[in-house]
Amino acid sequence: MKIAIPRERRAHETRVAASPETVKKLSALGCEIVVEKGAGTDAAILDDDYKAAGAAVAKDAKTALAGADVVLKVQRPIAGGADDELGLYKKGTIVISIMDPMRAQDDVAAMAKAGLTAFAMDLVPRITRAQSMDVLSSQANLAGYKAVLDAAGEYGRAMPMMMTAAGTIAPARVLVMGVGVAGLQAIATARRLGAIVSATDVRPAAKEQVESLSGTFIAVEDEEFKQAETAGGYAKEMSDAYKAKQAALIAETIKKQDMVITTALIPGRPAPMLVSADMVKSMKPGSVIVDLAVEAGGNCVLSQPGKVVVKHGVRIVGHLNVPGRLATDASALYARNLFNLLQLIIDSESKALNIDWDDEIIKGICVTRDGAVVHPALAGKGD
Ligand code: NAI
Repeated sequence: MKIAIPRERRAHETRVAASPETVKKLSALGCEIVVEKGAGTDAAILDDDYKAAGAAVAKDAKTALAGADVVLKVQRPIAGGADDELGLYKKGTIVISIMDPMRAQDDVAAMAKAGLTAFAMDLVPRITRAQSMDVLSSQANLAGYKAVLDAAGEYGRAMPMMMTAAGTIAPARVLVMGVGVAGLQAIATARRLGAIVSATDVRPAAKEQVESLSGTFIAVEDEEFKQAETAGGYAKEMSDAYKAKQAALIAETIKKQDMVITTALIPGRPAPMLVSADMVKSMKPGSVIVDLAVEAGGNCVLSQPGKVVVKHGVRIVGHLNVPGRLATDASALYARNLFNLLQLIIDSESKALNIDWDDEIIKGICVTRDGAVVHPALAGKGD
């Protein structure tokens, strides 16, 4: 069975879908691995590293993809236009990547039309058995860490308290908004750097988690808050009345902060707008906001995708693809998530694909199959 790993072609994508470690493990499972030349360059993985691990290196995408049964990618293939990738895939190929399918329904329809079986790693169900395949967690954890380092880099002051002969430097005050995987790592990182950390979320479960990391939990804890977590563990969109109460509380808190890291997301919806222009204006000059939700519309009204802007003396950071700013680690963890999924669909005895289409994980991630869009959340919307 042939597995291909082409070079990523989308802007800002520095990660790669295989590491030398996973190439070695997949070869041991009996797979033939072909990596496109230069696929790992941005993640500091050389072609020779892949070769040493047992992969062949192909001169271009066309050669890498020729006859591939499975294609591993970070981002879904580009459909149409000058950079089209889909034309290189043979009908029936299984392509596994982060798909962002709800926001890319035309691309999903194009994959169905091309006869591809598409598995979306971002739809892996959050069940215990699938934790080792959970790319949202592996990537968000790194993003939360990097967000704090990015904030520290933009901040013209030190983060920890320093008592020196020349005087004392006060510790930075950091507010983390949204305490999922990224937010928890941001709290832990800011604490390690010596900051005083507070955090807010709409899910009650977040309170204990914040406090266990020695942060102070701040939230409007009313009846709606008690019901804000879905059965899947995600946040619901809050009512206008709740949002108004939350905004008043944040307005009071934010003006005392030196750094704000926002990570709040609601699955399938635009990110909640939590930091208004007036709130930014109330902050001290030199303060920093890092908006990790910028690609989903942003949690700060003034953040701009892909830019660092200065508004009212506050530096607002809107980097794209933050996990990709730690490309080596992000690739290594992503590649392991993929390997764990592949173990589920490759029979170690026959060394061939053996997919249980009724498996909860497969049903959760299968977006297109046999020429149709098959995922229940998407079916009928493009096929
Ligand atoms: P996410 O990336 O969807 O959202 C980030 C955070 O923003 C969440 O904590 C959410 O509650 C918060 N948020 C949404 N709207 C907000 C608002 N208006 N104000 C303030 N905060 C707001 O979340 P993520 O990181 O994917 O985690 C979601 C849940 O999944 C968590 O409960 C987490 O512990 C759980 N989880 C479970 C896993 C498993 O069982 N395998 C693996 C990873 C996470």
